[in-house]
Amino acid sequence: MSIQFYQGDCLELIKSIPDGSVDMVLTDPSYSSGGLFAGDRKASTRAKYCDTDYNGAARFQNFSGDNMDQRSFTEFMRMVLNKCRQKSKAESVCAVFVDWRNIAAMIDALQAAGWVYRGIVVWDKGNCRPIPNRFRNDCEYVVWGTNGPRKTEYIDGVFVGAGCYHIKSVPTKQKHHQTEKPVELLEKLLAICETGGTVLDPFMGSGSTGVAAVNTGRNFVGMELDPGYFETAKRRIEEAERSVV
Ligand SMILES: C[S@@+](CC[C@H](N)C(=O)[O-])C[C@H]1O[C@@H](n2cnc3c(N)ncnc32)[C@H](O)[C@@H]1O
Repeated sequence: MSIQFYQGDCLELIKSIPDGSVDMVLTDPSYSSGGLFAGDRKASTRAKYCDTDYNGAARFQNFSGDNMDQRSFTEFMRMVLNKCRQKSKAESVCAVFVDWRNIAAMIDALQAAGWVYRGIVVWDKGNCRPIPNRFRNDCEYVVWGTNGPRKTEYIDGVFVGAGCYHIKSVPTKQKHHQTEKPVELLEKLLAICETGGTVLDPFMGSGSTGVAAVNTGRNFVGMELDPGYFETAKRRIEEAERSVV
């Protein structure tokens, strides 16, 4: 199994990957979200996503890239996803997390980057507080597409994924990153990529996608801009490698 990580801006780093080498892009970029108005979005990520110190949430360092307005976010994601597509094989899959506020922007960005838009997978986190006179926002979304056509024959052992996964968020006390995704969920999403395939995560945060790739026998290429989170990702992925040997 090959595991590679790079610290820096993914827009630059992606250039170093060989063209046509990636089987799946599975990533969770900074959503540039956390509020409806420009002023709300510009707050620090700690203020937006951990507004109390409940269960030690204030221990997290802030993370980068979360203060774009919606037009800048769409264009930035188009550039990143376009570079990812250049590095991806024909029929490969791109799956990108987003929340309800920027989902339309992400669908536009994925398509403008040249991926064939295939739909949305729902992650039911099951832990949103009830708000009177409103529907709950207790789901996040995975916008996904393919690099051109992708086979759909029913053959023995073929992957058939769900449209919705009910998996609890990581409890705050156990988190390594403010917006960490559960490894169990990532493993289920990675199942669409063949065992032994190569997974690219240009926004790896604390490395949850890398841990899921190691646990399920996929190669991994991860990138992270913030040195603190990069070190956490490296440590977690190396621990996962030791525990599967
Ligand atoms: C939503 S978090 C990912 C969390 C991750 N899924 C986890 O479970 O820990 C997005 C990460 O992307 C990083 N980031 C933002 N802009 C970046 C860029 N241009 N290049 C690389 N990483 C970037 C942020 O520092 C942040 O840690």
